Amino acid sequence: MQTKSLLSLLALASVPLASADNGNEKGSGKSCSHKGLDWYAKKAGLKYFGAATDSPGQRERAGLEAAYPKYDEIMWKSGEFGQTTPTNGQKWLFTEPTQGTFNFTEGDIVASLAHQHHKLLRCHALVWHSQLAPWVDSSSANWTKDELRSIIISHITNVMTHYKGQCYAWDVVNEAFNEDGTYRESVFSTVLGGDEFIELAFKTASELDPKAKLYYNDYNLESPSAKTEAVRKLVRQLQSKKIRIDGVGLQAHLTAESRPTLDEHIAAIEGFAELGVEVALTELDVRLAMPANATNLAQQKEAYKNAVGACVQVEGCIGVTIWDFYDPFSWVPAVFPGEGAALLWFDDFSRHPAYEGVVEALTNKTQGHNGKGPRGAKRWVA
Ligand code: XIL
Repeated sequence: MQTKSLLSLLALASVPLASADNGNEKGSGKSCSHKGLDWYAKKAGLKYFGAATDSPGQRERAGLEAAYPKYDEIMWKSGEFGQTTPTNGQKWLFTEPTQGTFNFTEGDIVASLAHQHHKLLRCHALVWHSQLAPWVDSSSANWTKDELRSIIISHITNVMTHYKGQCYAWDVVNEAFNEDGTYRESVFSTVLGGDEFIELAFKTASELDPKAKLYYNDYNLESPSAKTEAVRKLVRQLQSKKIRIDGVGLQAHLTAESRPTLDEHIAAIEGFAELGVEVALTELDVRLAMPANATNLAQQKEAYKNAVGACVQVEGCIGVTIWDFYDPFSWVPAVFPGEGAALLWFDDFSRHPAYEGVVEALTNKTQGHNGKGPRGAKRWVA
């Protein structure tokens, strides 16, 4: 395809092969023996740079079979990523498809690959209005408050117990807010109210796996807004009730054309970090209006660089996960018609210019101000 070869040329022209000098670096853990993104991230003081992935059965695309070995090589063996998140397999739809019947097959595939390849595992997601099993929010259900409370408790208990000890973090509640900071309408907020279902979810989770960090996770939290204020209020509310919340996940599904500035990212991350919770970019991708060209790929590079650079510069931002790494497996084209090329590897496995933007960010080539002067950049150890 014409677009593809243009993309490959652009990518090859602008991206040095950072892993060509691999192999000699030791000491930063098993998953970063190559100078991949995770290696740079750890040098910059982050815990990880990761990529979400689907279980192989779910990411199958006709005609792409030949790409799987290369995909697996980059995902698990290259040292690019020190962390992963199952993009689908731990969601309610898969884990409790009918009431009281639990199925961990899909989630376990990614969890065991992560274990086998020494990747940190972020677990995702316990209570979410989307990809919910239909029995939970079917209009005929008419749950009483007590019924829905026990459904939430049973789901969280079974899923977290199954994965106990395997998760660095759990996204306990996902996407509970609207853009204006009000609670999103869902079976949970309608029957129990936003405050109550979220408190119940975190309280339940806090008793099940003391080592797993408990996160609230949402999109459009990357620059200060009514939504970030609502999440800040939620964190303070849980803290004041002594209900454990350890982190806020900023999904960071961004668009190249209207990306947040570095300072906006910094302000948003700091707004959470100053409450004493950790912050992570949990689902970073930057979609383009297709076709990709030199202009929108340059904007995309800037968007990735700003997001990752802000995480590096704010103490308390602990890691970055991209939402898969390979464009053909991105969720974007299916959900945002006309948009795509949101990740760091093109169809032919050449790298986007944004890959180099991420490396620049991880080597402290960004400097934010945020009206108060430069942030204390984390140390880059050469
Ligand atoms: C997406 C998956 O990547 C897709 O495969 C699936 O069809 C829909 O969900 N926010 C989230 C993620 O928290 O779980 C979503 O993942 C993307 C948006």
